[in-house]
Amino acid sequence: MGDVSLPEGKASLRLRRAAEGDRQLLFAWANDETVRRMSFSGAPIAWAEHVRWLDAKLQDPACKLYLLTEADGIPLGQLRLEFGTQREAILSISIAAEHRGRGWGAAAIRLGAEEAGRMPGVAVVHAYVKPENAASIRAFARAGFDPPVRLRHSGQAALRMSLGLDAPGARSAPGMAAPGPGREASR
Ligand SMILES: CC(C)(COP(=O)(O)OP(=O)(O)OC[C@H]1O[C@@H](n2cnc3c(N)ncnc32)[C@H](O)[C@@H]1OP(=O)(O)O)[C@@H](O)C(=O)NCCC(=O)NCCS
Repeated sequence: MGDVSLPEGKASLRLRRAAEGDRQLLFAWANDETVRRMSFSGAPIAWAEHVRWLDAKLQDPACKLYLLTEADGIPLGQLRLEFGTQREAILSISIAAEHRGRGWGAAAIRLGAEEAGRMPGVAVVHAYVKPENAASIRAFARAGFDPPVRLRHSGQAALRMSLGLDAPGARSAPGMAAPGPGREASR
């Protein structure tokens, strides 16, 4: 598995744990038209529902929610890891509409997979993607995930893309510093 380069002219991508203060931003991103269309639960999200959901996720030990930012703190998107019982983490991501298509997505997925690899016992990272979500399929492929497997997810046709963390190089991508909860390293 090779390196995943950052967009041209960009030196770093950071991952920081999301907090209550990110509610509004996460709400706007969650209701982005493409995000809803590419989600397995496509309906718009009401504010009260979002607040309940976010509070639960922030307290859930089986979930880690991150904001992706540039070095100067400009928010680029969000990434979520959900840890299951099968030594697996499920990764989901969205990049803000104005930052898509520049390479952030693939780099962020790789960084998220590395972060999952730092959790004890996690052996594989999965992503569930709608078959029509070409940008996502390409982003996960560029991040080193295996070719998609067809299955059903949330009662719908889906593709699962996976990255085994025991593959050589899977736990550390060259050119990206190690992230960790609450730290401010470039990542
Ligand atoms: C999926 C998503 C995270 C990708 O992030 P991104 O920053 O746009 O992706 P990148 O710029 O890293 O592009 C990755 C690849 O997808 C391709 N791509 C980007 N936008 C595309 C589009 N609309 N259609 C087809 N391919 C596209 C890029 O050319 C690149 O391919 P390459 O590596 O072969 O050159 C982003 O589009 C997004 O937030 N979508 C809405 C939410 C979503 O679908 N999340 C995924 C569900 S887990």
